[in-house]
Amino acid sequence: MRIEDPKLLTAFRELDVECKPAVSLAELTYLGIGGTTDLLSIRRHDAIPDLLNLLDAQGIPHKFLGGGSNLLVIDGDLPFVVLQLASREPDVVIEGNIASVDAAADLGRTVTFCAKRNLGGLEGLIGVPGTVGGALRMNAGAYGTQIGYYVREVKLYRAATRRLETLDGQQISFEYRHTSFAPDDMMLSVKLELPAKPYPEILQGIRICNEKRRASQPLGQKSAGCIFKNPPGASAGRMIDELGLRGFAVGDARVSDRHANFFINAGHASAADMLALIAAVRERVRGTYGVTLENEVVVWNA
Ligand code: EPU
Repeated sequence: MRIEDPKLLTAFRELDVECKPAVSLAELTYLGIGGTTDLLSIRRHDAIPDLLNLLDAQGIPHKFLGGGSNLLVIDGDLPFVVLQLASREPDVVIEGNIASVDAAADLGRTVTFCAKRNLGGLEGLIGVPGTVGGALRMNAGAYGTQIGYYVREVKLYRAATRRLETLDGQQISFEYRHTSFAPDDMMLSVKLELPAKPYPEILQGIRICNEKRRASQPLGQKSAGCIFKNPPGASAGRMIDELGLRGFAVGDARVSDRHANFFINAGHASAADMLALIAAVRERVRGTYGVTLENEVVVWNA
């Protein structure tokens, strides 16, 4: 989708919003798949309500992009524009046990920044790619921890009220890869309350998680992490593996040889290839185990 109306482009500039034309989502997602559209880069949080009012008044559909690490985007000229927070400096500020983190901050960098200031708890999240905003929205978790454990306050654009709001941690429910945020809410910043721990101890935890991840996941290949959520009491990866589906492919979309719940773009996979692979694997698991696997990956297909 292209925005060409000069009045609208001027209005964006007045809101400090940069319109980057015809951006390829394949270049902004870890899967390396996705078509093109205009990307609106937001420099001021307080501009968001006016920006969304403008887009809605013009009937321009939009989606919010975080770090693109858990995302599968359809191909071609996309029927929506993409909104993304520009990164700001400093993106993490520490006061006592509280880390105030911008939603655009890189999650891994945030974990190490806090660690070096003797704040722990987030060790398990090292190696989870993406932004803090994306991690919040999905309640990212790994190795026994999840970001939701530490959330004390979230600033967001709330679609229901069309305003910027601040929610107390207790007002938000964080479940397994799910939160009570609405799909159109946009995370802006978070206050995390983290336990004090000596840096060497945190570093030890970080090293252990890094090793576990290296031993079991296809790092360095184009993927969106785990494709399916684990069903209660079971492992999607193990079920897919038991069906002998490692290496199973549709075009260049392939089940990883290393971890069967990671699907890889092994070359020039299209979104259609990846969606067909997801559907085929879901069907095989349903046929054998009677379980319908739910996507963990977020799909932008309209
Ligand atoms: N397994 C197999 N074959 C495979 C993959 C896994 O037999 O191909 C077995 C493992 O041997 C293990 C069990 O299945 O006994 C669970 O595997 P693993 O420890 O790798 O964890 P997982 O449940 O597959 C979850 C998260 C990961 C997270 C790891 C570590 C989900 C969907 N996945 O994976 O998160 O990194 O635990 O905590 O919850 C993600 O969210 O994208 C993600 C990768």
